[in-house]
Amino acid sequence: MDTNTRFENIFVAENQIPEEFQLPELHQKEYLLNGEIVHWDGPVNEVWSPVCIPGPDGLKRKLVGTYPDTSPKEAMQALDAALAAYDNGMGEWPSMSVEKRIECMQNFVYLMIKQRSLIIKLLMWEIGKSLADSTKEFDRTVDYINATIDALKDLDRESSRFQEAEGTIAQTRRLPLGVVLSMGPFNYPLNEIFTTLIPALIMGNTILFKLPKHGILAHYPLLEAFKEAFPKGAVNTLYGKGSEIIPPLMESGKINVLAFIGSSKVANGLKKQHPKVNRLRAILSLDAKNAAIVTNNADLDVAVSECIAGSLSFNGQRCTALKLIFVQEGVADEFVKKLSEAVSALKPGLPWDKDVKVTPLPEADKPAYLKECIEDAAAKGAKVMNEGGGYMNVSFVFPAVVYPVDDSMKLYHEEQFGPVVPVVRFKSIEEPIQYQVDASHGMQVSIFSNDAAEVASLIDPFVGLVSRVNINCQAQRGPDVFPFTGRKDSAEGTLSVFDALRSFSIRSLVAAKVTDANKELLNKIVRDHESGFLSTDYIF
Ligand code: G3H
Repeated sequence: MDTNTRFENIFVAENQIPEEFQLPELHQKEYLLNGEIVHWDGPVNEVWSPVCIPGPDGLKRKLVGTYPDTSPKEAMQALDAALAAYDNGMGEWPSMSVEKRIECMQNFVYLMIKQRSLIIKLLMWEIGKSLADSTKEFDRTVDYINATIDALKDLDRESSRFQEAEGTIAQTRRLPLGVVLSMGPFNYPLNEIFTTLIPALIMGNTILFKLPKHGILAHYPLLEAFKEAFPKGAVNTLYGKGSEIIPPLMESGKINVLAFIGSSKVANGLKKQHPKVNRLRAILSLDAKNAAIVTNNADLDVAVSECIAGSLSFNGQRCTALKLIFVQEGVADEFVKKLSEAVSALKPGLPWDKDVKVTPLPEADKPAYLKECIEDAAAKGAKVMNEGGGYMNVSFVFPAVVYPVDDSMKLYHEEQFGPVVPVVRFKSIEEPIQYQVDASHGMQVSIFSNDAAEVASLIDPFVGLVSRVNINCQAQRGPDVFPFTGRKDSAEGTLSVFDALRSFSIRSLVAAKVTDANKELLNKIVRDHESGFLSTDYIF
């Protein structure tokens, strides 16, 4: 099969899509506000799939459905609902016992799992993620919620006691911060947003949940679950254009925490809109262009397979993706040859095709941007090295290995967030170190070498430049119990199952001098269960 036939056949007529993956159009006419599923008669936005269908006028993206195009007015109503539900920390949700909040969350997970197959199908249709990866995203999110519940039990157990120091006795607990605005990216529309929303919610905050730019309908089946599982106003959904609905929320000064996963430019702008910056806590996961460094001492087969997983899983649309590969000159030609052959062998297709590795892209302007990057590199002396590399047809782009890339090219500096693998040839190990020193971001690096002394000499400079150094493996966020953060413009705050609970809460303590009268007083409060805070109850 020649290259073009191999790619041109990936889009098929609708009746050739296996029945189990076909999806009737979904027209969402509701949103969640203050514990009610509110009917929406106003304007709607259309959701177009990256999956195209051939027709008389050529390939056309398939319509997945529509969702409410709500305005700043509905956004402000959601803010009012979240504020009322929080009620300065005295609302039903923030003042509920940890044990009861856990029960609500367990009920939510139970209801969420019932929607598993529909949500996985919507992820495939809305963002083009393969069946295997969409399934993993759903299951990983459920695991994350369950792990969060366990971590909160541990946290609560640690807090169920008094501490005595220097004649003072105190009990310390972690309490919510207020209203959390949670915004996530399109590449993990379920998982990434839930890794902030769930810990923020279970700690007792109330939530404004802005849907990502793609992967919106995948949340539709969960509206009822949110409504049923949590008290009114604890979770409120926001649709519509971010640039219109978010500024009035931030300018109100009533958002206590901004949880945002996206670009540092947008995050900077959002923070500046808040009139009382000191009151705003920000948990951010932002820009990254993680480098791989393949030295003369690397196992090239390991390096190739990890660099492919790192740079091309979900077509390179991961914040943690390897977006620039440095390879030392002694192995550069062999590495590029092996890498190019392996990339060309990746299976293109639709999200539900068996063993598919390359799928269509959801962002309508991404193919043109990638073309521009490849042309810029070609004009400055680099080439596409792999067969079929850079082939484009509407939403489909076959990955391109571009070599040799240098610092005069866009691909050296810009976060391509797509299926282009730029490879830089280097002589001295100082070169990739200097790249990281000069970079405005600092998330992760992957080092490929089997020489212990060489690896050690790279670990030490890089741990000060990025927040995770991977040895002979791709960059990634997981396992989710590990800290996920970044230096410079890559992040603010730390997320992990354990850290997120701390990021979305603040410690408060009740303290008294150790006197007989105070001991008697505190004992009586605890014995009679008169306070939710001051308590030694233990969650089993
Ligand atoms: O897009 C960024 C995600 O947090 C990456 O997660 O490394 O597990 O794919 P991952």
